[in-house]
Amino acid sequence: MPRQLFVTTALPYANGHFHIGHIMEYIQADIWVRFQRMQGHQVHFVGADDAHGAPIMIAAQKVGKTPQQFVADIAAGRKPYLDGFHISFDHWSSTDSPENHALAQSIYLALKDQGLIDVRPIEQFFDPEKGMFLADRFIKGECPKCGAKDQYGDSCEVCGAVYAPTELKNPYSALSGATPVLKTSDHYFFKLSDPRCLSFLEQWTQDGKLQPAVSKKIKEWFTKDENGEGGLGDWDISRDAPYFGIEIPGAPGKYFYVWLDAPIGYLASLKSYFSAGGPKAKYGEARSFEEFMADPAVEQVHFIGKDITYFHTLFWPAMLQFSGRKLPNQVNVHGFMTVNNGEKMSKSRGTGLDPLKYLSLGMNPEWLRYYIAAKLNANVEDIDFNKDDFMARVNSDLVGKFVNIASRAAGFLAKRFEGRTTAALGDEGQALLATLQAGRAGLVELYEARELGKVLREIMLLADRVNEYVDANKPWELAKQEGADARLQEVCTVCIEAFRLLSIYLKPVLPAVAANVEAFLKVEPMTFASAEQLLGEHTIGAYQHLMQRVDVKMLDALFEPPPAPVVEAPKPGGEDIAPTITIDDFVKVDLRIARIVNAEHVEGSTKLLRLTLDAGEGRHRNVFSGIKEAYQPEQLIGKLTVLVANLAPRKMKFGISEGMVLAASHADEKANPGVYVLEPFPGAEPGMRIR
Ligand code: 2FM
Ligand code: ZN
Repeated sequence: MPRQLFVTTALPYANGHFHIGHIMEYIQADIWVRFQRMQGHQVHFVGADDAHGAPIMIAAQKVGKTPQQFVADIAAGRKPYLDGFHISFDHWSSTDSPENHALAQSIYLALKDQGLIDVRPIEQFFDPEKGMFLADRFIKGECPKCGAKDQYGDSCEVCGAVYAPTELKNPYSALSGATPVLKTSDHYFFKLSDPRCLSFLEQWTQDGKLQPAVSKKIKEWFTKDENGEGGLGDWDISRDAPYFGIEIPGAPGKYFYVWLDAPIGYLASLKSYFSAGGPKAKYGEARSFEEFMADPAVEQVHFIGKDITYFHTLFWPAMLQFSGRKLPNQVNVHGFMTVNNGEKMSKSRGTGLDPLKYLSLGMNPEWLRYYIAAKLNANVEDIDFNKDDFMARVNSDLVGKFVNIASRAAGFLAKRFEGRTTAALGDEGQALLATLQAGRAGLVELYEARELGKVLREIMLLADRVNEYVDANKPWELAKQEGADARLQEVCTVCIEAFRLLSIYLKPVLPAVAANVEAFLKVEPMTFASAEQLLGEHTIGAYQHLMQRVDVKMLDALFEPPPAPVVEAPKPGGEDIAPTITIDDFVKVDLRIARIVNAEHVEGSTKLLRLTLDAGEGRHRNVFSGIKEAYQPEQLIGKLTVLVANLAPRKMKFGISEGMVLAASHADEKANPGVYVLEPFPGAEPGMRIR
């Protein structure tokens, strides 16, 4: 009987694009899923956007979108990542779906029926300007321990102290800057401290289904310290409006805390996949979602990061258990991914290895799948992406040991035997292929146990055996020998048979390479059962290049920080500031206040006005000024302005100009018309110098 597997990865918050941490988890789960499908099992692999919560609501507000639109826009950007890295989700949904609203409410009501919901007044900081309660991360203030400024409401980044937001000194709202006030409101609690929950969880988390390190950690969470502190407390599952989430039935203005409805999103996504007819089309599944989930044979498998273990191994199974639903069969916890020994790939600072940049540089997604698989095991360990290690594993192992086997043998078969393989194999070749076939059982176990590093190590050991065979039998020399045709065909056949077996074993990791191998060898889609039979007499197609080596330049480009945006220095008024002068240069220009005693049109000129100026010299000056377009003479008469008083007199068509008045204009007067004569502040008098 095929297994029926319902597999999920953690639902990503819909307030940002995927970073390498997400992709790492998806690759791990996808390899496991593809392995199960190749074993002939039925898999429903689903994901969804985690849409709710205060941070998303606030981020949406900031950019002037509804939260629904904001989340939809993020969701629209998921495809290039998922397709790009060959992540084979069957379905993708959102926790804001109608299915999730209905399921969350019904699970809650079931818990309430069990007497596991409590309502208690809670005193909390409230932002009087925004009219909302503030989550810890939206309250800032001075650390009560060390006094560091601008610390978050739950812990100090400077001294590491952990405290309640009410302990902060001079608290303020990170949203409005307002001083928060304490306000009381009813909160809904899931009574995890109920003896039924405790005894269920103590058993469920310690019966050997979880990874040993995970069970151990949970045991610590259960244990109260000598002061009676710690242990499992009740869980606050409500938030007050305004909140982007699911309304609590029978509690107007109260919403489920995002972490209550997020894991329910796993079920909701599967349900929407059933509604869309996916399982029916794929496996002829005739049952409804509810009937499917009621089948004890269905296995529920979650892949998550270590930071969200608490939610998935305590809250989530308790919610399921006491609402009468199927429990997870596996919660597979992985560590974080670091890059070049660098900082942890935290959710907020997903820097280091940008997955889309990786793809846009033309880097092969299967290099990364292979590399990540090579580093993963079933433990909760962090893995590091290291440039040199990446080059070595891809170039020496993947290309050097595996891909090259095909290229070494296929050419001779094509040129000399019209692509025909033979069933007549010698002892040595038969023994080699038997060894490869015998390796399958062990590999299946390792895949099942998510020991992906070991899987690839075993496959590479098998590849070593094949390469030894090639080196010992030297097809390139057989090709030159008279009468060695049969030997050449046999040796090349052994290589191709071996290559096919290795391709089967690598197919969960390298799905695109495997598809090309299937096309090149002219075989049906490979499953693990395909390893039982050899090709025998068969005609293969022309060899096509399967995979390039990594070029170090690509890796350098990948980690090169993005170029600082070239900011073109703005040109004020349309032109660069003139070269620097000294004060000595400046004082050479004698600028004086002058009164415009008269202004008049100049006959025959479209540009000029004739100004008569008094600069306190006991005489009047005659100055022509190109401001006719901007001013009527009457506007100017009697006004003060600025005169360049020591400019050499200039003879013009209409008379002599004895100086120049100052006016502002844009360098490109055509595009930015307008001329503005300078006028001093009141109090200035004709003759005063400007300095
Ligand atoms: O930590 C996170 O990114 C959460 N969005 C994971 C939710 S997993 C599940 F519960 F939905
Ligand atoms: Zn501190």
